[in-house]
Amino acid sequence: MATTLTSAPAVTTTASSSESFQRYYEEAGPDYAAWSPNFNMHFGFFRCGMNPFDREYMLEQMNVEVLRHLNLTTESPSILDMGCGLGATLRSLARQLPTASLHGITLVPWQLEQGRLFNESSPGAAQIVLTLGDYQHTDYASESFDAVYAIESSCYAAGANKSAFLQEAHRLLRPGGRIVVADGFLGPGTLRGPQKSICRTLCDCWAIDTLGQIGPFTCELDRLGFRDIVVEQMQARVTPSVLHVPWVTLKFLLTSVVFGRRKMTRARWNNVLAPILLPFVGYPLGPMAYYLVSATRA
Ligand SMILES: C[S@@+](CC[C@H](N)C(=O)[O-])C[C@H]1O[C@@H](n2cnc3c(N)ncnc32)[C@H](O)[C@@H]1O
Repeated sequence: MATTLTSAPAVTTTASSSESFQRYYEEAGPDYAAWSPNFNMHFGFFRCGMNPFDREYMLEQMNVEVLRHLNLTTESPSILDMGCGLGATLRSLARQLPTASLHGITLVPWQLEQGRLFNESSPGAAQIVLTLGDYQHTDYASESFDAVYAIESSCYAAGANKSAFLQEAHRLLRPGGRIVVADGFLGPGTLRGPQKSICRTLCDCWAIDTLGQIGPFTCELDRLGFRDIVVEQMQARVTPSVLHVPWVTLKFLLTSVVFGRRKMTRARWNNVLAPILLPFVGYPLGPMAYYLVSATRA
């Protein structure tokens, strides 16, 4: 996939606009092609009966699972992807919801440009609108969405309870609207000894300021007036796709670095290192785990 520079305006925000965040996604972003040709920039969802070797299928199932939790009731819903990457999930939704109005917001200009290019060759292109901006402070009108979701993007929001992110989601949702968040959080338990510094290094590698904590996150949902809050620990569901990491990393290093002779920057090495560190702080060795949280705006 070609990397092109963009003329889109820079965005200023609080937590996630740090230089390292932009550098990470600009330099390492294209490398996600090694993980998913469709740029599903997340882990996969596995259930018995699926082929655990078919990574792209499991990544696609994560999109399906998020959609299922949205519990949509209207025929032509308006949906926002908060931290949409290149829009892979929105293109997946477009295939299943041909009359939905689909929006995505990302903080990375490169993702916006490449996402729009992907959309041009996708059947649901006319339904999808991608925007550059900070999901914590958007320009969308209040109560303009039936559903919002965030897949592995809420981790970049400010604070352990992701308050600014949740407040904006609450403002954007109509009463009765749904929020679904799929992401890594610190769960019950504590980081012990070297796990603390491993976790800090892991976050630095992925340019995350403050990892979310599932307890404070759900308390904040409750405080804001969300109801029907359901928290599902999905570590076992994502593990089969996580197990693809060593193989994908080896293949990437051989094809891109050893034989492809592409220049490796620090951000690109960080993207190689982060998933390797994950098992040392992740469940069952550590308190970090993958959660799917859903709730309804009162
Ligand atoms: C790991 S990617 C996941 C992308 C997408 N959800 C997917 O699953 O393919 C994280 C995404 O969060 C976005 N993001 C992080 N902080 C953001 C913010 N403050 N506002 C908007 N997008 C943000 C990044 O731009 C990136 O697109």
